[in-house]
Formats: sequence, structure tokens, C-alpha cells
Amino acid sequence: MKLILVSMMALFLSTACVVEKSPFKEGKILGGKEVSAKTLNLGYTTYVEYCIQCHGMDGKGNGPAALGLLPPPRDFTQGLYKFPWVNYGELPHDEDFVRIIRHGLKGTAMLPWDISNERLDAVIQYIKVFAPEVWEGKDKTLGTKLELPADPFGDTYRHQAIEKGRKVYHVTAACTQCHRGYATKEEINGWAKELGTTVDIGADLHQLKSQDGEYNYKVLPPDFTYHDLRSITDVPSIVQRLMYGVTGSGMPGWKDVVTDEELWALAYYVQDLRETGADNKRRNELMDKLNGKK
Ligand code: HEC
Ligand code: HEC
Repeated sequence: MKLILVSMMALFLSTACVVEKSPFKEGKILGGKEVSAKTLNLGYTTYVEYCIQCHGMDGKGNGPAALGLLPPPRDFTQGLYKFPWVNYGELPHDEDFVRIIRHGLKGTAMLPWDISNERLDAVIQYIKVFAPEVWEGKDKTLGTKLELPADPFGDTYRHQAIEKGRKVYHVTAACTQCHRGYATKEEINGWAKELGTTVDIGADLHQLKSQDGEYNYKVLPPDFTYHDLRSITDVPSIVQRLMYGVTGSGMPGWKDVVTDEELWALAYYVQDLRETGADNKRRNELMDKLNGKK
């Protein structure tokens, strides 16, 4: 009898250690904001319920379901986030996490999460705890939000926007340093001449150049006619992405590097490439041209 009691106690104690319901006794200051112990505890249980299988108990992105995933689940101890709308390398606002977690990251294992607002806010606070040096303390400031410039084209001038975007993409901004090109060498040289400049065209023009970045794996720039884009829904969301870049992946922000008009032109062009990709006939025609079959 005594033995049973002792072993039951031991069992109780060991499970109590594994699934501690309320690990936080005190609140924390995260990103300059006070967060209560109650919120952190709710965040913890939400995380254990929904996120742990990929992001892992210790937040390192090594949960049991992470095996073989590409891209791998984010390691939250790095405190690096790719898709907020803040300048490259700066800290996301809670509204960024809300957008990312509610929409998911298309083309990855990170699905959209339909959890209550209260649990969503709580889990957002909790994942910050994995990167204390990045988030904890009163001195931490959140990233800069830039104003979305007005669209100089609109639907009426969409066609002109795409034509301009094509030249900015291949010549002015040389996005092909990392992404693939969608034009022939001759076309690109022709546009460079028209714009009064020259451009270096590598033998890898039509290949994706994977980037070392700051994560522990090579990050592949998407082919806009082939891959899903993580954080993109429409043309304005492409402008947002281009303004800020993709933190840690090597893709810089383009605000002030190109003009606002060029930003919008690029976004219309990228959107057109996505539409080309969704239409087999259009994509095949483009690829045949690039492969010299036409
Ligand atoms: C089935 C696996 C899976 C589950 C479950 C999962 N995630 Fe993710 N998550 C991912 C992957 C994969 C990425 C990396 C995507 C990338 O790098 O493009 C990611 C990235 C993230 C990011 C980083 C976003 C950025 O901008 O860099 C956040 C924040 C995040 N997840 C939060 C959560 C939360 C909160 C939960 C639970 C509610 C959750 N995830 C559940 C797979 C998962
Ligand atoms: C230094 C390399 C580099 C350059 C230069 C670069 N990109 Fe990227 N870009 C990347 C990488 C890497 C990714 C993939 C990030 C990820 O998903 O982790 C990316 C992703 C993107 C995305 C998708 C974002 C999403 O939500 O999935 C768009 C759109 C994009 N780039 C457009 C451009 C345009 C337009 C240019 C030129 C103005 C450009 N990029 C220049 C490396 C680069």
C-alpha cells in the first residue's frame, strides 16, 4: 500500500514537472511593454497545445514534426523574423505577428491559425520569452513603420507599370543578383542601353541563387512564376515587402534605393509574373523564349 502511494506520488511529481500549467509567477517587460504572468501562462499553454510540435519545447524550431521541413520552423531563440512590416532587422509590432500567424506563411508548413484573440495575443508574448536579449527590458524599441506611398499607376496604367517594372527588375535594381531573370540577355542589354547604363549579366541569369543569410540553412529566393510567396496577397503587400526586405535572408529593403514609382512598378511586375505562373500556356511561352526555343 505504502509502495503504491509512493509510486503514485512520484508519478504525480514527474508529470507535474513535464506539464507545469503556470510556469510564470511574475510578469515581464517585453518590447518595452508590461506583460502579466497570467498572459504568459496562457501563452505557454497555447504554445504547448499548437506550436510545440514544430517550434519545439525550447523554441529552437526542433519539435518532432520539424524533421525534413524546408524551410524549417523558425528558431525563436534567434529573435529574427522575416515577414513583419518593419525595417530590416528591427523588432516586429504585435500587429505584425497577428497578421503572420492569422494568415500563415504560404508555401511552408506554417499554416494560418484560427485561435481566439486572447490566446493569439498570449502566444505572441510567450514566443518573445525565447529571445530575452532581444525582447526583455524597458530599453527595447519596436521597428519603424513606413507609410505606404500612393499608387501612381492604378488599374488604368497597370500595363505601363508592368513594362517599367520589368526594366527596373532586370536593370536598375538588378533583382537577378539573387532571383532569376525573366528576360533574355539581349532584352536586358537593350533596356540598359535605353536607360543609359550597363548591367552585369552572369551565366546564372536564369537560376535562383540560394543565400546564406542569418538562419542555419540556405534560403532560396522564390521563382515568382513557380513558388508560393510567404507574405504576399496583392500588389500593395508586395510594395510593403519590398520597402522592408526579408530580415535575415539577405533580401534588403528597397525604400529610398529606388523611387516610390519604381517600387510600385516592381510590385505590378512581380504580380504579373505570379499571374503568368498560374497560367500554364503563358508560363510555357515565357520559358520557351528564355530557353531559346522561339
Ligand atoms: C507544422 C509546423 C508548424 C506549426 C505547428 C507552427 N509553425 Fe510557425 N513556422 C513554421 C515554419 C516552417 C516557419 C518558417 C517559415 C519560413 O521561414 O518561411 C514558421 C515560422 C513562424 C514564425 C516566424 C514568422 C517570421 O516572420 O519570420 C512565427 C512567429 C511562427 N511561426 C509562429 C507560430 C505559432 C505562434 C504557432 C502556434 C500557434 C506556430 N508557429 C505553429 C512551422 C510551424
Ligand atoms: C541579396 C539577395 C536578394 C536580392 C538582391 C533580392 N531578393 Fe527578393 N528575396 C531574396 C530571398 C532569399 C527571398 C526569400 C526569403 C524567404 O522566403 O525566406 C526573397 C523573397 C522575395 C519576395 C517574396 C516575399 C514573400 O513574402 O515570400 C519578393 C516579392 C521579392 N523577394 C522580390 C524582390 C525584388 C523585386 C527584388 C529587386 C528589387 C529582390 N527581391 C531582390 C533575396 C533577394
